[in-house]
Amino acid sequence: MTTVLKAEDLRKQFGELTAVDNVSIEIDDGNITSIIGPNGAGKTTFYNLLTGVLQPTTGSIWLRSGVEDDLADVTDAEPHQVAQAGLSRSYQITNIFEGLTVRENVRVARISHEGTRLDFRSRATGDESVEADVEELLDLTGLTHIADTPCDTLSHGEKRTVEIALALAIEPNVFLMDEPTAGMNPTEVAEIVSLIRELDADLDTTFVVTEHNMDVVTDISDRIVVLAEGAILADGTPEDVLTDERVTEAYLGSDSA
Ligand SMILES: Nc1ncnc2c1ncn2[C@@H]1O[C@H](COP(=O)(O)OP(=O)(O)O)[C@@H](O)[C@H]1O
Ligand SMILES: [Mg+2]
Repeated sequence: MTTVLKAEDLRKQFGELTAVDNVSIEIDDGNITSIIGPNGAGKTTFYNLLTGVLQPTTGSIWLRSGVEDDLADVTDAEPHQVAQAGLSRSYQITNIFEGLTVRENVRVARISHEGTRLDFRSRATGDESVEADVEELLDLTGLTHIADTPCDTLSHGEKRTVEIALALAIEPNVFLMDEPTAGMNPTEVAEIVSLIRELDADLDTTFVVTEHNMDVVTDISDRIVVLAEGAILADGTPEDVLTDERVTEAYLGSDSA
């Protein structure tokens, strides 16, 4: 296994509050890692640090830089630089252009990615390869049947899936999902779970997921990392972590998973 993402002694202070407290973690490829913890544990702040949305108070962040196993220091990188370096994140629907169809949204995401790249493909074949990539992304995410549907008429679950397609358009090495099943009905939850599993099997992308729904966590995780008050409380296989007394206590002590 290869480390694709590494945080070292990562800390984020908001005034007196330590939202992320000296977190050191290595994420290996070929794994689905879930990050869980009570509300306010620091999960979203951790993602904001990793993606360059927030600057850490101290600590460093490293991303696998390419074919080599070398890690590049992205601690000071801007969000667009982090994305270019191969780290993608699904935001809660905010990236979608409501007035465009599903296919048009995927095309825009794909073209803006192509625009940031060096000339890997010749200009002459550029348009065709974009269209082929768009169709592949639609197919991968199961969106082909609604490709011509305007996004403002989609269900919440469908929009979340479009968002996944947009995040995949940059061909990320690592994909951070923040609560992918939030606000979904049980049918949509089941669909998104099987989609994540399929994408994990089909792509080289490494998935990191924060999630409330413990059935989902148990179902998809190879590894579970528990955050509590900004620090790592437990880290291991689902069997080990979910039977850990400190973990059950952390959850019983709060009103929410
Ligand atoms: N921009 C901010 N300014 C001040 N405090 C913040 C900010 N963002 C998050 N926090 C605080 O940091 C803690 C962690 O929040 P968050 O990362 O959103 O947790 P989670 O995603 O696990 O629910 C909470 O106490 C929250 O109120
Ligand atoms: Mg959060």
